[in-house]
Amino acid sequence: MTSSALLLLVDDDPAYRRVLGNELRRSGHEVIVAESGAEALAALTTNQPEVVLLDLQLPDMSGLDVLRAIREQQPEGDVIMLTGHGTIDTAIEAIRAGAFDYLSKPCPLDELDVRIQRALERQALRKRANLLERGLTPPDLGRAFVGESPAFTHVLDLVTRVAPTDSSVLITGETGTGKEMVAKLIHARSLRRQRPFVVVECAALQETLLQSELFGHERGAFTGADRAKPGLFEVADGGTVLLDEIGEVSLATQVLLLRVLDTSTFRRVGSTTEIHVDVRVLAATNRDLGAMVSQGLFREDLYYRLSTISIPLPPLRERPADLDLLVAHFVGVMNERFGFSKHIGAAALERLLAHDWPGNVRELRHAIEAALIVCAGPEIQPEHLPAALRRTDPAATGEATQPGQPLPTLEALEHAHIDRVLRVTRNHRGQAAKMLGISERNLYRKLRERQMSTPDADDAGRT
Ligand SMILES: Nc1ncnc2c1ncn2[C@@H]1O[C@H](COP(=O)(O)OP(=O)(O)OP(=O)(O)O)[C@@H](O)[C@H]1O
Ligand SMILES: [Mg+2]
Repeated sequence: MTSSALLLLVDDDPAYRRVLGNELRRSGHEVIVAESGAEALAALTTNQPEVVLLDLQLPDMSGLDVLRAIREQQPEGDVIMLTGHGTIDTAIEAIRAGAFDYLSKPCPLDELDVRIQRALERQALRKRANLLERGLTPPDLGRAFVGESPAFTHVLDLVTRVAPTDSSVLITGETGTGKEMVAKLIHARSLRRQRPFVVVECAALQETLLQSELFGHERGAFTGADRAKPGLFEVADGGTVLLDEIGEVSLATQVLLLRVLDTSTFRRVGSTTEIHVDVRVLAATNRDLGAMVSQGLFREDLYYRLSTISIPLPPLRERPADLDLLVAHFVGVMNERFGFSKHIGAAALERLLAHDWPGNVRELRHAIEAALIVCAGPEIQPEHLPAALRRTDPAATGEATQPGQPLPTLEALEHAHIDRVLRVTRNHRGQAAKMLGISERNLYRKLRERQMSTPDADDAGRT
């Protein structure tokens, strides 16, 4: 189940390049090589390696400078530093500068491959979640956070008030409503703005990996931990950590988080030494943490500790007043990005206004981006919009039903509604059942029955 990748191996030692390059090819990877920083950066203009293996000591540039340049030139890829004489200091600096991992030379091939696989795994997860986000975070965050409805203005007010404090903030809201943007904005407007802002994707990693990602580990703490590694809390010292999808964290890890929040101290996995950090913690979730507390899935003390201040983000469908502005904003951003000067036609805009946006602002941005690319002329028409917007689902709304056409059955309406709720809850059945006002078992039964009667009908919630 290991995947093969395009790798760029940067090392000034020809023998090492040849030997390691051949070994990596034998384990199924495609390998290109470079012998200097300049050659590595040149290679990146024509290739997009998924992982760069970078020697810290290069003849022409410092490895850290090359690392920074690579991260800038190709933020989607990952860099694993290879170091002859790694100290914790250079390692921390490398991680801070955006390295994914580091290994000391000579490193056993299987260990290196484990790290490569880990990087690929993380990239796959990141791609799925953030397919459209890459390279689009504008420098002036405030201006890029668009809206003027009362609900949105209220959010902005809250952000302005909490930003300069050191409080924890719980940011809640459906997928794509802008939780991460709010977290970035809080950091950017805080006194910590010159220090790191670190996002921990809590849902992306299993328990051991998550703990080691958060707190770091000592050498030998678990299989594969062949050297000590600082955690993100250490990396973020003086700055802000966003615990994204906090609802997915296990109860055991919750205990450790509570301790960091209460005492600002933690231990690396496998260590008994206390480490003290100064970190502001923000958390985000699309789950109902209060409900999870009553189900025993989330610690009450941690919940109260995190939610001293909470910022709920309203779904897009509840603030239609922002839609025009957001459409204009994204058309502007994408026009600039692609070098177009297209605009949106009245009929297409009407379609956008009629949609209920289960994927919220992200879905809207995606729709505009796709429409701009598909549309050959200067004006976006309804047929340029993604299928979900073009096709008015008669079962869901009844709108597209022409006189003389059969009306949808009650069952069809029910199916469509369940699908919609599953989409909104990102296929979270507990939440969906609650929204539908039925028990989870009942929902499960309904889905089962449908699957048995129409084997290919259920594509609800697929993302
Ligand atoms: N008010 C806004 N103005 C401009 N862009 C926005 C706004 N809100 C969200 N976006 C954009 O929508 C996309 C999704 O935002 P973000 O990643 O912050 O959402 P999220 O709530 O963290 O989503 P998820 O729960 O899926 O992680 C991003 O591209 C972001 O830039
Ligand atoms: Mg997010």
